[in-house]
Amino acid sequence: MPDNSLWYKDAVFYELYVRAYRDSNGNGHGDLGGVIEKLDYLQTLGVNCIWLLPTYPSPLKDDGYDIADYYNIHPDYGTLDDFKALVDAVHKRGMRIITDLVLNHTSDRHPWFQAARKNPESPYRDYYVWNDTDEKYQQARIIFLDVEESNWTWDEKAGQYYWHRFYKSQPDLNFDNPKVQEEMLSIAKFWLDLGVDGFRVDAVPYLFEREGTNCENLPETHAYMKKLRAFMEQHYPDRILLSEANGWPEDIQTYFGNGDEFHMAFHFPLMLHMYIALHKQSKSPLENIIARTPALSNNTQWCTFLRNHDELTLEMATEEDRQWMWQEYAPEPRMRQNLGIRRRLAPLLNNNRQKIELAFSLLFTLPGSPTLYYGDEIGMGDNIWLPDRNGVRTPMQWEDAPNGGFSKSNSPYAPVLDSEKYAPSRVNVTAQSDDPESLFNTIRQMIAVRSQHKAFSWGDFTWVEERNPAVAVFWRQNEAERLLILNNLSSNRESIKIKLPEENNKPQLLLGKLDYKSNKQKMVIEIEGYGYCWMKF
Ligand code: NOJ
Repeated sequence: MPDNSLWYKDAVFYELYVRAYRDSNGNGHGDLGGVIEKLDYLQTLGVNCIWLLPTYPSPLKDDGYDIADYYNIHPDYGTLDDFKALVDAVHKRGMRIITDLVLNHTSDRHPWFQAARKNPESPYRDYYVWNDTDEKYQQARIIFLDVEESNWTWDEKAGQYYWHRFYKSQPDLNFDNPKVQEEMLSIAKFWLDLGVDGFRVDAVPYLFEREGTNCENLPETHAYMKKLRAFMEQHYPDRILLSEANGWPEDIQTYFGNGDEFHMAFHFPLMLHMYIALHKQSKSPLENIIARTPALSNNTQWCTFLRNHDELTLEMATEEDRQWMWQEYAPEPRMRQNLGIRRRLAPLLNNNRQKIELAFSLLFTLPGSPTLYYGDEIGMGDNIWLPDRNGVRTPMQWEDAPNGGFSKSNSPYAPVLDSEKYAPSRVNVTAQSDDPESLFNTIRQMIAVRSQHKAFSWGDFTWVEERNPAVAVFWRQNEAERLLILNNLSSNRESIKIKLPEENNKPQLLLGKLDYKSNKQKMVIEIEGYGYCWMKF
């Protein structure tokens, strides 16, 4: 790989659920061989870093976020050799790959937990958090609200309660134990030695517990993450840490440390505010959240996204925004889960093609490195009748064929979508690849244009003062490269006037439609409902 330790600033990420992607051996589960088969596709799309959801051996009670062995691959997905083959194949294409690193908890099937519960004298007992009562840490909220009633569960064998922030089948590790800290460094080392380009670190805020706090974002957690970063900096300097910590931007920002903790962090509130802006047809939710987003140092970057494999979280929304989001985006109870919405991008936007494109235009033009969720690039739907978050994790739709071309098995791990709007006969990769006007080809084009212009990844961001509240107009500028971006959040055709900087010449249209009149000082642009326009001066 070329030596470019800031590669993540320019990257476009693609979140990929191996089990759902492509089944190469017909066992009904997607696998690593299947991902290798589809690398050409990903390269054509133009993404340059793949993020794999957990592929470790696991009882899959939380789709692999419940790990039973950190040093292996789930047999349904392949072997460590397959994993190495995948990493090599990705790197040969000049792409990168990051994986999920789940630090906070293991599966209750993990041998550590099995040993711990059986014997209070076992060295593994202290790998977990035990107590005689369930009364400690009462200020910690319950995350999987729909399912769990407490963060403590009684273990008959152990004769004590154990602590868990997620499902009761996911006991939390005790990070106060230095051995646990070391184990996790060894695990990171193992995967870094196999060549991964970094980690999306799961459930970051919850590593430590302290009485009298909400047990989130504690200073001890930052100290541990700085240790992991220092270790990577020393031995694997171009690999990254991406934080999964939900919160307001000023809180998430603490995970960047002084450029010595995480390289990247998901921008959860920007995601939420894009949906609010799209529905209210107003740029002000975006203005507010961007104003609240602190400037970053040179070696850190936001990771932006529209959807992922979880519910669209409303955890950190104000109560008013949360109720409004549920009402507007999740009118049926089955669409809701915990404090969120379990739907995919296309159904959230009523499968409105212009609106979906506009959402992607926002994603690709606002500051940060964008992440796409598998299937959203072809406008896949969801299945709200499946339990938990499974409805947004259905098989990738490759072609109009049985199982959408995902698998030759008669019993895929989950049913392929069969609704009128979203079944593979209507939504699939092959048909969209052949159609220059398809969503897939539009997204591909957006990524291509974005990749050619550093202003998107490195540039400053400046709002253009504009009276029309429906059109988000801004400059992105990097050195001499100056881009003007318009995203019309309104369903109506809008007209806007823009004062031009003195030395201006004619704009070059990069993407979208441009309909304008101008003189030396100003430009009057007409933009269609939900239209977007990227131009270069
Ligand atoms: C966050 C992951 O995104 C989610 O899928 C998982 O259930 C929890 N962390 C627990 O690991």
